[in-house]
Amino acid sequence: MCGIVGYLGKKNTKEILLDGLKELEYRGYDSAGIAVLQNNNFSSYKAIGKLVNLQEKTKDFITDSFAVGIGHTRWATHGKPTELNAHPHLGESSYVVHNGIIENYAELKSELEANGVKFLSQTDTEVIVHQFEKNLKTSTSAFEAFETTISELKGAYAVLLVTKGENETIFFAKHGSPMLVGINHEDEKYFASSDTPLIGQATDVNYFEDGDYGFVSKSEIAIFSKDGKRKKPQFSKISTNKLSAQKDGYRFFMEKEIYEQSDVISDTLMGRLGDDEINFDELDPKLFDGINEIKLCACGTSYHSALSATYMFERYAKIRCSVEIASEFRYRKPLMCKDTLFVVISQSGETADTLETLKMAKEAGLKTLVICNVDNSSMVRLSDACILTRAGIEKGVASTKAFATQVTVFWMLSLYVAKLKNSMDSIELARQINLLREVPASTKVTDSMHEKIKRLSKRYLHGHGFFFIGRDIFFPLALEGALKLKEISYLHAEGYPSGEMKHGPIALADPELFTIALLPQHLLHEKSKSNVEELSARDSTICAISAVEFDKADDFIQISTCQDYMLEFFEMMVVVQLLSLEISVRLGNDVDMPRNLAKSVTVE
Ligand code: G6P
Repeated sequence: MCGIVGYLGKKNTKEILLDGLKELEYRGYDSAGIAVLQNNNFSSYKAIGKLVNLQEKTKDFITDSFAVGIGHTRWATHGKPTELNAHPHLGESSYVVHNGIIENYAELKSELEANGVKFLSQTDTEVIVHQFEKNLKTSTSAFEAFETTISELKGAYAVLLVTKGENETIFFAKHGSPMLVGINHEDEKYFASSDTPLIGQATDVNYFEDGDYGFVSKSEIAIFSKDGKRKKPQFSKISTNKLSAQKDGYRFFMEKEIYEQSDVISDTLMGRLGDDEINFDELDPKLFDGINEIKLCACGTSYHSALSATYMFERYAKIRCSVEIASEFRYRKPLMCKDTLFVVISQSGETADTLETLKMAKEAGLKTLVICNVDNSSMVRLSDACILTRAGIEKGVASTKAFATQVTVFWMLSLYVAKLKNSMDSIELARQINLLREVPASTKVTDSMHEKIKRLSKRYLHGHGFFFIGRDIFFPLALEGALKLKEISYLHAEGYPSGEMKHGPIALADPELFTIALLPQHLLHEKSKSNVEELSARDSTICAISAVEFDKADDFIQISTCQDYMLEFFEMMVVVQLLSLEISVRLGNDVDMPRNLAKSVTVE
């Protein structure tokens, strides 16, 4: 995810910006850049890839007197990770860095282009700097132009802007993306999108609130709230613990990543939802020419997202779809037919078993696609086509937001194929796309939900096993819920199709067998309920997750009422993730680094 830094002072500005960006590396990025304004001259450098590339490019650049500077690490969302798309973006005599999404950028861009402005990048960010310069021509001050510009932006942003006429000023605005300013006794000012770059540099920090904008100069910190009223900065001492700062106040990376899901899903959807079609600029529709089957292949959590995709491809796109566990597929001498599109799914893009199956499919002459979270990973480089999931870096070994974004991509892809194959009518397609727009809201963690799960978790710390059960697409979710619990609690858990329990596992039912029942209101509700009743009648302890009350359950976690089972899927996903997290916390385990597991398994 993108990171922002800013500095105003007389120390080595370049080094301070690069050091600050280094502290944001943990968030993940694919390009970086800085712009420094010193003695009324701008110097700007950008590089794709890791920060060492930017360090190398700036090695002869020296800042030895007062300067203002801004820097950025970019995780590509709007436009490829190229140097032109890297921030800072230049207008005529100003530079801007931005995190978030400018939702009305297309409108603003076409107006600006109609007035002769030339755009260099494919980003939404670039409109900010051109809009500012347009406003500058009719404003009495740079600040007035900035204020007008901010009022014209729709969406989410944290913005820093520097401009030539104001050599000692950084303009800022924050709405929906994090941003803070820090000070110290040496009269320096620092900006950043999280605490970490400021630890050890600033002594006190002010966290901006949504709607705040203003400027910071040598002598002044001017903050205005969204109604244009000047407000006093609220400084507090900055924490000194980097690791906890990286966790943004959450106890664990996994917890932070569960909470981030709503935002990263918005990123995944960004620019891809039309009114009645899905846009994947990165895909050539010819990829699907002559394709009669989709074969998905993956490991672990990615395998579960693939399994959920089989339901969507067959139901929505009406295309045959099968799924394989990569380590099995490798050695079973599978038949591979050229009318099959071979799709691998991987958070890291490096998992050895999955990578090997991709090589096999390529050798057999199949068309290939990868759904991946890491650009330039081995799988992305090898496959014919790629869709990035845009989850940002995932640190918790137990995958959460990667899964959420994979399922989101699969939902979009199944609709994309449905449109190509004309297998869904346009009214249903538009309805599905509108549902997709609601996924970020369905995955928001509420305090009451988290509190309830926290309290309830104390009842599930023992027993002789857990069964997560669900039907249809809720079966892969049950598998994923069980996997999360196993991974971080070390308790035995299985995911099972609800209707299959009576064919064996029900023999285990007793009060010490915990059943976590996924009971969507909008999909096979009555059938799923009877399966749970069979277990309840045999005295299994039942924890039901549903929008509708279920009186046969010992515990009940209520999700919101919504209009489609896919939204229930996403909300239940958050519930099972939080349940595992809270059980693991109570058991005193290392949530982020569970025993025996690795984040990326690059060996067989
Ligand atoms: C490891 C991780 C899992 C992950 C699996 C596949 O086992 O611990 O969380 O789901 O690898 O990883 P991938 O990067 O290919 O999605």
